[in-house]
Amino acid sequence: MNDEQVPASRLPAMGQVDLKAGSPESEELMHALVQEGDRPEEVYERFNNFAELLMRYSTAIREVRTKFEVLNDEFSFRNSRNPIESISSRVKRPMSIVGKLRRRGLPLTVESIEQYLNDVAGVRVICSFIDDIYAVAEMFARQDDITVLEIKDYIRKPKPNGYRSYHMIVEIPVFFSDGKRPMRVEIQLRTVAMDFWASLEHQMKYKKNSADRPEISAELKSCAETIAATDARMLGIRKRIERLEKDRTDAESPVRDR
Ligand code: GTP
Ligand code: MG
Repeated sequence: MNDEQVPASRLPAMGQVDLKAGSPESEELMHALVQEGDRPEEVYERFNNFAELLMRYSTAIREVRTKFEVLNDEFSFRNSRNPIESISSRVKRPMSIVGKLRRRGLPLTVESIEQYLNDVAGVRVICSFIDDIYAVAEMFARQDDITVLEIKDYIRKPKPNGYRSYHMIVEIPVFFSDGKRPMRVEIQLRTVAMDFWASLEHQMKYKKNSADRPEISAELKSCAETIAATDARMLGIRKRIERLEKDRTDAESPVRDR
């Protein structure tokens, strides 16, 4: 990372939850939460529980981001380069949570969100090189307060459409006034190049009919492969430079005189 860039630790959190009373989003959520025979206080209580849950997920995101920022700082100090280019995060929008629960036929309760949804809190860690992803993920997973629930390695085994990323579902304890609660967070680690492909592919996915044509899918997949090959070459270049540097410092070291 050069001097002009914002260090990962100072990047703004993406999409903090703020369920403002009276906003269209909170009105919509309130409607979704109404059950037959409810008294108004009961709806408000359910709404409040929901809002509190979102607040708790946003604190879990902060804890996870801090861990990656710490690892990045330490690694940069030791190796004079950043393994992490940037970190972004989001709490799932309330109505997407409601939509996902409904599609799966689950009740709209705080308990079912915590039990069945893994992606309410999401953190995306953009790394410089492919080996940084594995190094950073391993250092994170090894920390003794982190429980890894699931790993999907779409780098070693890309999705059929060409999507590449390393996904982890983890549980991290967060300390609240009434004690410690384990919170689930979905972490996606990718290189800058993988992120470039995933963001553009994501934008085009919504142009459903045309994006589904086989020749377009094939072209997108071919782009993903070109990008993966470039990622591998960039890593190769970095390793060659590191070897050259090592040979140079070894040659300069007084050890050779012994
Ligand atoms: P969801 O129910 O959609 O969360 O899928 P899943 O539980 O099977 O998890 P998976 O690990 O496959 O995907 C989780 C997240 O990864 C998605 O919400 C996206 O952010 C991202 N992702 C997965 N596949 C793709 C893809 O093909 N393209 C892009 N752009 N992003 C993807
Ligand atoms: Mg998801």
